[in-house]
Amino acid sequence: MKKITNDIYYVGVNDHKTDLFESQFPLENGMAYNSYLILDEKIVIMDSVDEGFEDGWFHKIEEVIKNRKPDYLAVSHMEPDHSSSIGKFLAKYPETTLVLTAKASQMMKQFFRDLKFKELIVKENDTLNLGTHILKFIMAPMIHWPEVMFTYDQFDKVLFSADAFGKFGALDYEDPEGWACEARRYYFGIVGKYGAQVQAAMSKLSNLTINTICALHGPILDSNLDYYLNIYNTWSKYEPEDKGVFIASASIYGNTYKACEKLKELLEKEGIKVSLADLSREDIFECYEDAFRYDRLVLACSTYNATLFPIMNTFIEGLLERNYQNRKIALIENGSWAPMAAKVMKEKFEKSKNIEFVDPVVKITSTLDDNSLKQLEDLAKNLK
Ligand SMILES: Cc1cc2nc3c(=O)[nH]c(=O)nc-3n(C[C@H](O)[C@H](O)[C@H](O)COP(=O)(O)O)c2cc1C
Repeated sequence: MKKITNDIYYVGVNDHKTDLFESQFPLENGMAYNSYLILDEKIVIMDSVDEGFEDGWFHKIEEVIKNRKPDYLAVSHMEPDHSSSIGKFLAKYPETTLVLTAKASQMMKQFFRDLKFKELIVKENDTLNLGTHILKFIMAPMIHWPEVMFTYDQFDKVLFSADAFGKFGALDYEDPEGWACEARRYYFGIVGKYGAQVQAAMSKLSNLTINTICALHGPILDSNLDYYLNIYNTWSKYEPEDKGVFIASASIYGNTYKACEKLKELLEKEGIKVSLADLSREDIFECYEDAFRYDRLVLACSTYNATLFPIMNTFIEGLLERNYQNRKIALIENGSWAPMAAKVMKEKFEKSKNIEFVDPVVKITSTLDDNSLKQLEDLAKNLK
């Protein structure tokens, strides 16, 4: 049984069955639904797990509490991966009081239409005394649903951070890429639109001493916490994390992609870090991740019926939805009779904040020729 502190236990589960998280994010290495238990005069369980995984969760809870019963179940977030087993939990432990925000209470009644439950509605800075541990509730709306709250255990200085600081990946899988890669894909895929709300919640944490962050996904963070707090600050301010160029290519027959490979080669010769993706074949959320990670973005697209090859349209709409800003963008277009893609791509960023376009636009007519190769070389120089 994993202990986080003397009285706080990990009682979460790993999911190696689900292929697509939220029906769209590929889960190559599973997912963790974290839940925690505080064993005090009162017993509180911090969040539940996705339905179908409750047996493993109940087993871990029983191992800790033996013949006792949970007094409270804190519901930080009503998304079904953290709440869909609450019905089964209350069938087993009907006397447990749910601790949740007013919005979460309303959602409980929506997700569980006829379920009767005892509840304690909490708001900003309310506290709950468990005996030794005193929990303080911190509202974190829109990270990334409106009912979300963080909970701070004043005794052990543990922050229960709901989906903030979460990542993809089961906890029994050792991620060779470390924490940031899948945390970044999770953040920009799921939370990225809500940078302002993340900033607001982060500012409430600045006066707290935090020894441990317990998120609802991903590992327990108990060292080097400034790293995680700083990286969340960078991401939520939409600042680039690294210097480098991400090239996103949307190519029908491969000629635009070949030009992107050439550009990558030219940039790498100059010592610039480059990531190149074929949007049609790469997980698009890996692409959002890299677009936000680096300070420069190249969009390369074949013209398609006088507009964009559809996957580029989807990609750019996703960037705009996530408030893409504070970056340099360069454009490559291809077309066999009337290339239009660069114009369409540029117009899409008209309302975006602090976007600088890097010249020249590379115009390819089917395949690279001397002219477009020269433009590509000039672009490589200007992207330095
Ligand atoms: C369905 C379809 C529509 C296209 N529409 C246009 C167009 O409106 N204007 C244009 O110049 N080329 C158009 N093209 C041609 C491609 O943009 C062109 O062949 C280009 O070389 C493709 O680059 P790629 O090899 O990277 O896919 C179209 C191609 C297809 C398959």
